[in-house]
Amino acid sequence: MLKCGLKTPVFSDFLNVDIKEMKNDLLIRAAKGEQVERIPVWMMRQAGRILPEYRAVRSSVNGFKELVKNPELICEVTLQPVDILGVDAAIIFSDILVIPEAMGLNYEMIESKGPNFPKTITSEQDVAELTTDVIPNLEYVFESLRLTKSALNGRVPLIGFAGAPWTIFSYMIEGKGSKTFSQAKKMLYTNPVLAHQLLDKITTATIAYLQEQIKNGADIVQVFDSWAGVLSKAQYVEFALPYMNRIAAAITAVPVILFAKDAHYILTEFAQTNANVIGLDWTIEPAAARAQTKGKTLQGNLDPCVLYADKATIKKETEKMLQSFGGQQYICNLGHGVYPDVNFEHAKYFIEVVQDYKL
Ligand code: CP3
Repeated sequence: MLKCGLKTPVFSDFLNVDIKEMKNDLLIRAAKGEQVERIPVWMMRQAGRILPEYRAVRSSVNGFKELVKNPELICEVTLQPVDILGVDAAIIFSDILVIPEAMGLNYEMIESKGPNFPKTITSEQDVAELTTDVIPNLEYVFESLRLTKSALNGRVPLIGFAGAPWTIFSYMIEGKGSKTFSQAKKMLYTNPVLAHQLLDKITTATIAYLQEQIKNGADIVQVFDSWAGVLSKAQYVEFALPYMNRIAAAITAVPVILFAKDAHYILTEFAQTNANVIGLDWTIEPAAARAQTKGKTLQGNLDPCVLYADKATIKKETEKMLQSFGGQQYICNLGHGVYPDVNFEHAKYFIEVVQDYKL
C-alpha cells in the first residue's frame, strides 16, 4: 500500500523518465526492434484475475467500477504482477470500456457476467450526442498512471492501453458481450455511413486518450481488438483497419502494439501500419506470422490453456514457441488474456521459463 501512497506527485517524479534510467527496458527495446540479451515477457490481463492479492483488494470495494476509479488501488493491483510474478512490464489496471463511458454511454459491470450498457447506440441522434472531448472525464486513469509510474520507480515499463475502435463500437451497439456481435455487424450492412461516423468518433477519442496516457507515464501502448474475429477480411479492411491505421500513425512518442484477436487474415496489412509490434493469438504459426510481417516485432502467442498443464508441459510448450519466434524482435506473451481459473504458480513458472531461456 505504502508505495502507492496518495501524495500529489511532482511533475518530475514520473514524467519523461529517460529510458536509460529504466532498470529493465527489455520490452521497449524489443518493441523498437533493438537487440536484447533476453526475451521480455508479460501477460495480457495479468493485473487482476489470477492473484489472491487482487481478489483481496477487489473484495474490499463495492464492485469493479469502484476499483477502476480508485487510483491508489489501481496502482496497488498494477504492481502486484510485477512484485509477485516478476513480469517485465506493468499494464495499468483499467478497462477498455472507460472510453464509451467518457463519451457519454454509461456501462455497468455485472458480477460474474460481464459488462452491460443500459442504453445502446441505435440512431444518428445517439451518435451525434456522444462527445469526443473525453480527457476531462478520464482524469482518474491519468492520476492512476502518474501514481503507478512514480511507484514503479523505473523498475519496468508501464503499458497503457485502449480498445480498438471496432471492439468499442461492438459494445456500444450490442450493449454486452456476444458470441456473434450480430447487432453490431447488422449496422455495417444496414447503415454503413452511421457506422463510419461512430467509428470515426471513437477513434478521435481513443487517440486523445492514448496520447494523454503517454503524457502521464505510459511507456508503450497496446490497442486491443478483441472482437476482430467476427469480421471477414473485407469487413475488417473497410470498418476496422483504417481506424487502426489512424491510431498507429498518430502515436509517435512511444511504441504501439496492435493486437487483433482471431484476425490472422490481417497480418500483412498490419505490417504496413506505423505500429511497432503486432500481437498474435495462438492460432497463428510463428513462422507464418514472421513471413507476413517483415520488420515488425511480434508478440504472443502461447495458448492460455497451456497454463492448466503440469510444469513439464508448460516448459516444453513455451520453449518450443520461443524457438520458433527466435530471440530478437519478439515479446513473449500469451495468445490472449490469462484465464481467471489459472493457478498463479503456473503463470509464475511460465514467466520463469521465458526469463531463464538463453539466447
Ligand atoms: O491486462 C490487464 O491486466 C489490465 C487490466 C484489463 C482489464 N480489462 C481489467 C478487467 C485490461 C487490459 C482489460 C481489457 C478488456 N476489457 C478487454 C480487451 C482484452 C481482452 O481480453 O480481449 C475487453 C474485451 C474488456 C471488457 C471486459 N471487462 C469484460 C468482457 C469483462 C468481464 C469478464 C472478464 O473478466 O474479462 C471485464 C471486466 C474486467 N476487466 C475484469 C478485469 C480484471 C474482471 C472484473 C472483476 O474483477 O470483477
